[in-house]
Amino acid sequence: MQERLKLQHFLTIKKLKNDQVEELIKRAEYFKAGGAVPEYAQPIYAVNMFFENSTRTHCSFEMAERKLGLQTIPFDPVASSVKKGETLYDTLLALNSIGVNLAVIRHSQNEYYKELIDLDETQKLNMGIVNAGDGSGQHPSQCLLDMMTIHEQFGHFKGLKIAIIGDLTNSRVARSDMRLLRQLGAKLYFSGPTCWYSSEFTEFGSYGKVDDLLPQMDVVILLRVQHERHKQEIGFSPTEYHTEYGLTRKRYTHMKKNAIIMHPGPINRGVELASELVESSRSRFAKQMQNGVFMRMAMIEAVINGRGLGGKQ
Ligand code: CP
Repeated sequence: MQERLKLQHFLTIKKLKNDQVEELIKRAEYFKAGGAVPEYAQPIYAVNMFFENSTRTHCSFEMAERKLGLQTIPFDPVASSVKKGETLYDTLLALNSIGVNLAVIRHSQNEYYKELIDLDETQKLNMGIVNAGDGSGQHPSQCLLDMMTIHEQFGHFKGLKIAIIGDLTNSRVARSDMRLLRQLGAKLYFSGPTCWYSSEFTEFGSYGKVDDLLPQMDVVILLRVQHERHKQEIGFSPTEYHTEYGLTRKRYTHMKKNAIIMHPGPINRGVELASELVESSRSRFAKQMQNGVFMRMAMIEAVINGRGLGGKQ
């Protein structure tokens, strides 16, 4: 049997090698095709801790855990002792002490996970941490499901022209995707309001105008305008954004024949993307969400294997 990926935690895509990404895609495709899931001899307990709102990532991780046969322990941050001031570390220590093996966490603080993994000699926390999004840092599961969706369409990454358009500075999806796509050999372009473009992106690709880029792209990744992260008025209305930077029905007709549109969701309909294009033939929005379950199964399995959970298979 092929040696599977083994990780103590799944926190970022930064250290993943190309062959590990390919292995995760292959494993996710196997699960998607109905491949048998491992049978674990001992129960594995997981908790999903979402300190920021989420629909698809939260429910998708829960679905992935159930499909893998894990026992999921409910956790509601609002009803938890976090509201009494308990720290993230102490919350995890409590869950670990009652027998939870894995925590999937979304948090507004960049690299919130450092205090959970960089332990000193007095600390004994022993849980696998899976990052479901940290502030404006990383969103590894969204990134890997995006890779799976692109791979499903084209079968490779090398030489693909990919534009990431929109609220770049606030986007952990963009930061994760641009790094891994460049590593996998894609050619990257950025567009959208220049106030959301920063010099940190120039090492990954170049900036261009939406109308110049769109007809040349194989993949167009639209980013949600993240109003909740803006500290000041953005200076344009939803209609103005759509007209200037959005994927309008007219722009859609200028795209390459085999080009695809992706969006991590949730979509501001009629802003990043014309509402009637959300389920159009080029849109992979629903496919991304479907693929997310299988990619998250592959990611969780890597941590189960890395920590030797579940006993003998
Ligand atoms: N793409 C994504 O992270 O969506 P949710 O915020 O709904 O989880």
